[in-house]
Amino acid sequence: MDHSEDRSTNPWADQRPTISRLVEQRLSRREFIGGALVAGGALATGLSGCQRADVVEPVPAGRLEEGTFRFTEIARNTSETHRLAPDHEAQVLLRWGDPLFDDSPAWNPRMQSAAAQRRQFGFNNDYLGFRPLETTGDEDERGLLCVNHEYSQARLMFPDVGPVQVPELTREQVAIELAAHGGSIVELARHGGEWRVVKSSPYNRRITGETPMEIRGPAAGHDRMKTGADPTGTRVLGTLNNCAGGITPWGTYLMAEENINGNFAGQLPAGHPETEAFARYGIPGGWYRWDLHFERFDVGREPQEPNRFGWVVEVDPLRPDAMPIKRTALGRFKHEGAESVVAPDGRVVFYMGDDQRFDYVYKFVTAQPFVPGDAAANRDLLDEGTLYVARFDADGNVTWLPLVHGEGPLTAENGFESQADVLIGTRLAADLLGATPMDRPEDVEPDPAGGRVWVMLTNNSRRTAGQVDAANPRANNAHGHIIEIREPGGDFTATRSRWEILVRCGDPGDPAQGATWNPSTSDNGWFGSPDNCAVDPMGRLWVATDGNEKTGANDGVWAMETDGQGRGTGRAFFSAPIGAELCGPKFTPAGDTLFVAVQHPGDVSDDATFENPGTRWPDFEAGVPPRPAVLAIRRKDGGPVGG
Ligand code: FEO
Ligand code: CA
Ligand code: CA
Ligand code: CA
Repeated sequence: MDHSEDRSTNPWADQRPTISRLVEQRLSRREFIGGALVAGGALATGLSGCQRADVVEPVPAGRLEEGTFRFTEIARNTSETHRLAPDHEAQVLLRWGDPLFDDSPAWNPRMQSAAAQRRQFGFNNDYLGFRPLETTGDEDERGLLCVNHEYSQARLMFPDVGPVQVPELTREQVAIELAAHGGSIVELARHGGEWRVVKSSPYNRRITGETPMEIRGPAAGHDRMKTGADPTGTRVLGTLNNCAGGITPWGTYLMAEENINGNFAGQLPAGHPETEAFARYGIPGGWYRWDLHFERFDVGREPQEPNRFGWVVEVDPLRPDAMPIKRTALGRFKHEGAESVVAPDGRVVFYMGDDQRFDYVYKFVTAQPFVPGDAAANRDLLDEGTLYVARFDADGNVTWLPLVHGEGPLTAENGFESQADVLIGTRLAADLLGATPMDRPEDVEPDPAGGRVWVMLTNNSRRTAGQVDAANPRANNAHGHIIEIREPGGDFTATRSRWEILVRCGDPGDPAQGATWNPSTSDNGWFGSPDNCAVDPMGRLWVATDGNEKTGANDGVWAMETDGQGRGTGRAFFSAPIGAELCGPKFTPAGDTLFVAVQHPGDVSDDATFENPGTRWPDFEAGVPPRPAVLAIRRKDGGPVGG
């Protein structure tokens, strides 16, 4: 979702010490050392290992040969359907409204009901996780696909709404929207090449905006978490706005709650103690009028309900009857994702972005180590650990600042009475620590074998020349950039790391954009607005975009070279149908299937509707609206996707 976050709520965006001069010195020195120029005068990042040794260590031996892509690029396009690199094929696997259970009603978008939607695949698929299962019969491969459904769009879901941005829906329509949020867990099996949905699987599950869930960790039971419906502060109905996510090393599915502010409307009572925090979180956003039918979405009547959203939710896909759990130790903000890696000492590190202009990058380090095969030992690992926020220094260091009550400024004098206050108001705590306001952090993904972490910074057209800094070097950053973090010696728990910019996105042929790509990047290989990403089993980076239409072409998936002479080269692999953003990307463990999620196809403008969309992908039937859908991409010869 790109269009919704058009302003910052970070009052510190303007007030940081300006380090832009230092940065420019550093960058110009490095770029001079690198030497290579791309068209338009932008500078390459494809420096050899020794030439960039002042910034990061060389890539481990043996990975260069593996880390190259061998596919023919597709052309930039504005097609009504998806396009894919030659020698690959894509199968439409799951569409909005598809039945997930033997008793699911068939999808009828002109007669939709909340009861039907609760048994069908939700709207606007985003994160995709794949949890392999052992094969038991004649299938070649089995697994559970864990899918987030980020948000609902009434004008594209209902035939009678029209191009209204904040419609006043019926109670049943709001209930349909709540049922279309959340997530789906779906068993897949593969026979030969084709994947199929196993509708009779006992693991299939819908999680919605009304599914009962537990609240655990340091903020559970705190007074600020209590409501009229839940005087304990430990139970909540539903998860909302699940953007990216993660699969933990112990096989659970993490759903990251992102733009939760938009669901709330109404007016906070004058002088309410949440006033400052609500302003920092943009609550109430008023993007929906659910408050007209559901009191808990009216901040005037239930002012603490928003405190129960904006968390990371853990779901055990093997226990379909177990309640999802909101894990408060991981902080509360507009969580984009929660991808993780096991550090050398066994502790688990989760990387997370807070997706808003001028917000921050975080990591959470569990207190206890992951114990392979010991479900009981791992079950509550996410309740205890340290949350850190990143300060990107001009000298190439990342300093990870702990959000721990009683340390530094996080004390009662500054409004933090406990760790619960630090977590419920994570953004306010991170502000006081001096974290670096970034150009909208989206997905952050570690490369377990390489000791690196890639940070997608999607764009920030509001950054002014006076707000430019080392890690966010462009004013009016319309196309975003990608930062590479290197954890020292592969120790992901480190509190001091190194960073550098991998690419500045945009058109390298337009000097005004200041894009930096490896000069071997073709006219199709550059892109804008990186959002989701994936690291394949060979450690190769793939980037999905949300907003590439600002460059005149559809969103899609690009392969990104990160090593050797090709470092900083983009290669166009897949494009989504017009109007869609591309989410998900997730590889199977063998790397022979890439799942992608096409979100909001046909949403070419605010005037796009059910009856008048930009495309009717993927069904292309008269009168049938476009349907967000998941595709399974394979190479025709069964080899690794991307060659
Ligand atoms: Fe939901 Fe940050 O994209
Ligand atoms: Ca986005
Ligand atoms: Ca996203
Ligand atoms: Ca990802």
